[in-house]
Amino acid sequence: MNKKLIAPSLLAADFGNLQRDIEMVNKSEADWFHIDIMDGVFVPNISYGMPVLKAIAKHTDKPLDVHLMIVDPDRYIKEFAKLGADILTVHYEACTHLHRSLQAIKAEGMKAGVAINPHTSVDLLKDVINDIDLVLVMSVNPGFGGQSFIENTYKKIKRLKEIISMNNASTLIEIDGGVTDQNVKKLSKAGADVLVAGSFVFKAQNPTETIETLKKIANF
Ligand code: DX5
Ligand code: ZN
Repeated sequence: MNKKLIAPSLLAADFGNLQRDIEMVNKSEADWFHIDIMDGVFVPNISYGMPVLKAIAKHTDKPLDVHLMIVDPDRYIKEFAKLGADILTVHYEACTHLHRSLQAIKAEGMKAGVAINPHTSVDLLKDVINDIDLVLVMSVNPGFGGQSFIENTYKKIKRLKEIISMNNASTLIEIDGGVTDQNVKKLSKAGADVLVAGSFVFKAQNPTETIETLKKIANF
């Protein structure tokens, strides 16, 4: 089994103490920083944008896993590359020419991710699976942290695994939303490679230990 990765979502951090929270993640066993960019159009919420990403990049060497919940993301691909994004994930539902978006992300030297909403079938990615470095399966409706996990996600992971192996692809599966110590083992068993956790990490009494616990359970 490949090593399973933990990506704390900074959406749940304390923005008044952002540097402190970044340092906490730096010193923890976290593998990636998950950064949620929301535009108030694709999702009914606005998070943060370029200046905040720039500040995060300045304070960490861990990979920046940027999740764009914005319409027409092609407009900003070059800018996110300049800001230091390592993985850039666009939503299937926000891209009219998904294949073109994926090529544009890779041309900037980043890994290309595709996120799908809970209602979007993984089968829609069959024809581009070999072009995708990572599929982010939303296990809540995008826009907010702290929501409860949608159980149908397990079925989607299993089907996605089949599609990936049928095509001899090396695409990673990332799960985002409602991840806790209660579901991380089952998710990992089902085939998840990367687990995003926001509230469960940052609202914990000891976030560093919580990251360690999630990582241990995911790599049971
Ligand atoms: C939701 C975001 C998630 C969010 C997860 O739209 O994509 O990354 O921060 O938060 P939790 O772990 O609290 O569900
Ligand atoms: Zn996210």
